[in-house]
Formats: sequence, C-alpha cells, structure tokens
Amino acid sequence: MAHLNLILLGPPGSGKGTQGERLQEDLELPYYATGDILRAAVREGTAIGLEAKEYMDRGDLVPDEVIIGVIAERIASPEAAHGFILDGFPRTLPQAEALEEKLDEISLQIGAVILIDVPDEEIVRRLGGRRVCTEADHVYHVDFNPPEKEGICDIDGSELVTRDDDAPETIRNRLVQYHEKTAPLVDFYEKQALLDRVDGARAPDEVAESIRALVATLSLEEDN
Ligand code: AP5
Repeated sequence: MAHLNLILLGPPGSGKGTQGERLQEDLELPYYATGDILRAAVREGTAIGLEAKEYMDRGDLVPDEVIIGVIAERIASPEAAHGFILDGFPRTLPQAEALEEKLDEISLQIGAVILIDVPDEEIVRRLGGRRVCTEADHVYHVDFNPPEKEGICDIDGSELVTRDDDAPETIRNRLVQYHEKTAPLVDFYEKQALLDRVDGARAPDEVAESIRALVATLSLEEDN
C-alpha cells in the first residue's frame, strides 16, 4: 500500500477516538491520538505530563510547543513508514503549519483530513455518558456503547471511569476552545482541497462505513 497519512478532525466527543480505533484495525497504521499520549504522560508523571495536566483539567489546550515535538518525533519514526492516523492534532493553526513544515522536511503529504461533524448539544450528551478504561483509554458510553459487563473494559478487563475533563463546566470550555482555536482549521484544509466531511451524528457503525468508503477511495487514488 502507498503512504496514507490521515487526520481525524472534529469537536470534543465527536467520535474521533471511537472511529480512530476502528480505522487503526482496518488499516494497520500507527494511530497517534494526542489526548491519549498526554493522558499516558500524566499517568507516568513525565515532565510533559506534569506540564500538560493543569491545561487538560481546565479543558484548555496545552501550549503548541509542547505538543508539536511529541507528534513530529512520531510521524518521522520507522513505524510510520507506511503512513499514520492523527487524532486531535493539529488543533491550532500554528500546529497545522508546523505539521506541514515537518512533512515537507521528510517529503510526505497529508492524504486527507476527515472532519467528523457533530452539533454541540449532541457533544454534551455524549461526553456526559462517556466512560474510559484505566489501562488504555478504550472508549464506551453508558447508553450508546455500553460494555458487556458494567464498569469493566471488554478489551483489557480494566476498570471504567469518567474522564477528569468530562465534568459539565470543563466540557463547555473544551467546546469554546474548539470553536475559537480548532474550527479555523476546517477552512484552512478546505482551501487546500484536503477536507472530507462525515456526518458524525449518526450511529457509530454508519459513521465508520462512511469513513471506510472515503478511505477506500483515497487508497485507490494513492495506488494509481
Ligand atoms: P482529547 O483526548 O483529544 O479530547 P477531545 O478532542 O476533546 O476529544 P475526546 O477524546 O473528548 O472525544 P472524541 O472525539 O475522541 O470522541 P469519543 O470517540 O471518545 O484531548 C484532551 C485534552 O488534551 C484537550 O482538552 C487538551 O487539553 C489536550 N490536547 C490534546 N491534543 C492537543 C493538541 N493537539 N493541542 C493542545 N492540546 C491538546 O466519543 C465520545 C463519547 O461518545 C464516547 O462515550 C463514545 O462511546 C460516544 N460516541 C462516539 N461516537 C458515537 C456515535 N456515533 N453515536 C453515539 N455515541 C457515540
């Protein structure tokens, strides 16, 4: 397969993680979710984790310089030799520009930016009921995607908890941050003809089908 570099873009709770896990299984490409990477750094108590935690707990974005280095290192690594899936990065214009610069440097390009579109009121419903596992951040929802056994991850058996930043006031701030700082990327990538919109307000399987169809078209284009 040719090099396929994908970005999942969308508001908090739009389903980037849910769809990213499926896409990773389908495509067998490395999946870099900056939220997961930062939460792992917080758990491990690394310098980046300690710096990021206060921003994440408030629902603010961590500074660009902290996150850009984290991603630049991964996309240039040997495991990304056949492509990668980015979830939650870039999230600001300076991050998008830094990504472009890094990709230029290693002679790569973005294949597509998949925008998972979901209205704010649906986001609040989703994040209020989200549960994640303590081992690897596998994602569930108490109503829309419950685990087989209540409170336990189907995949690794660890405990399911509510994320610290899923408190109602933090969700509101995350949405403000998204509309102010991340939404301008829609226009940025649209102008480069890289943006593909997917209606994320449908059931997870339907959203996954649309993304699969889109990626199949892209893979064909890359191969030709
Ligand atoms: P991050 O973890 O990336 O949070 P986010 O973007 O707010 O996204 P979420 O993980 O909340 O949601 P999601 O879109 O993955 O949805 P999910 O699949 O879980 O970032 C956390 C923090 O880290 C940020 O606030 C910031 O501080 C920092 N950070 C990260 N990246 C950064 C960057 N680049 N720059 C600066 N700071 C950064 O689904 C949500 C819920 O809905 C689940 O319960 C799920 O089961 C359910 N669900 C999913 N799809 C559907 C569906 N189709 N129908 C019904 N329910 C659904």
